[in-house]
Amino acid sequence: MIYVSRREVFSASHRLHNPALNDEENRALFGKCNSPNGHGHNYTLIITVGGEIDPVSGYLIDLKKLKDIVKENVIDKVDHKNLNMDVDFLKGVITTTENLAVAFWKILADKIPSGRLYSVKIAETENNFFEYKGE
Ligand code: NI
Repeated sequence: MIYVSRREVFSASHRLHNPALNDEENRALFGKCNSPNGHGHNYTLIITVGGEIDPVSGYLIDLKKLKDIVKENVIDKVDHKNLNMDVDFLKGVITTTENLAVAFWKILADKIPSGRLYSVKIAETENNFFEYKGE
């Protein structure tokens, strides 16, 4: 197996809030991340595809194609957006980075033209990393 990764960055705002809980419970659970008017992050997204090298091209996947797929299906939909309000595929989702990783996986998994999606990694800050591998 060979693995190829594409890195993208995006900036977005969000608020962690579970509508099933009351305001006090939300504040206790999420702390300042529950701040009513939200806050922002500069996220780094790393999409990794795994598979076999094509003997004709020497590629696992054409990185230009991977870049375009990630940009069109994820980055263009979340960059400079409010994740709670502006993103169709995050409606009803608590916008933790765990849930972002799973949502991005679901969008991208069937769109990879060669090899298969191996992992979706997101850095929310310099120190906090999240990774989903589909199960
Ligand atoms: Ni946050």
